Amino acid sequence: MTTERLARALVVTESYWGNTAAIADVVADGLRNATIDTTVVAAADAPQVIGADVTLLLIGAPTHNMTLPNPASRRIAASRGVEAGRTGVQEWIGHLRLDGNPAIYAFDTHTSKFSGSAARAITKLLRRRRIGAELGECFLVAGEPPALVDGELQRAASWATQLAGRGRRNLATDPR
Ligand SMILES: Cc1cc2nc3c(=O)[nH]c(=O)nc-3n(C[C@H](O)[C@H](O)[C@H](O)COP(=O)(O)O)c2cc1C
Repeated sequence: MTTERLARALVVTESYWGNTAAIADVVADGLRNATIDTTVVAAADAPQVIGADVTLLLIGAPTHNMTLPNPASRRIAASRGVEAGRTGVQEWIGHLRLDGNPAIYAFDTHTSKFSGSAARAITKLLRRRRIGAELGECFLVAGEPPALVDGELQRAASWATQLAGRGRRNLATDPR
């Protein structure tokens, strides 16, 4: 009997006004449409140990002060009327352990491509922990409260199609 392994993706996010979470949901839907078993979870609730069954790991956060959100920037977000917990992607990466070898991509939302990138901060933080990760896509928000600019959800859906191929190729080359 042959046991067929499925490609599995985990999308870990942090979001205050819902924009990064909306990108995560669209990407997850695209991956599911491509038959990749996909779970989305907030960083504060994400597992610290990623099982060997995960072939694709996506990590997304909003850009705060040119980098990843931290306790001080979350307090500023909270003062603008949103619910903000105490931890997010930055703290989660600090304790992350990988049992397998997933392809990892970082994504973010930000207000301008010249105003820093949480995704870049994610890849740097991971590399410091000797975990290889690629810079994925950065999505634009505008306005107050911040909302995704027209076309960004469609761009997220197209990105999901590219990522689906990556998740499956990773499964095919995995020796287990
Ligand atoms: C405290 C704080 C600092 C921010 N700093 C930046 C920044 O340096 N660069 C930028 O492009 N956007 C910045 N922003 C805007 C956020 O990137 C924007 O609120 C976020 O992308 C919205 O995503 P979310 O709905 O998932 O929270 C900042 C927002 C807050 C609350």
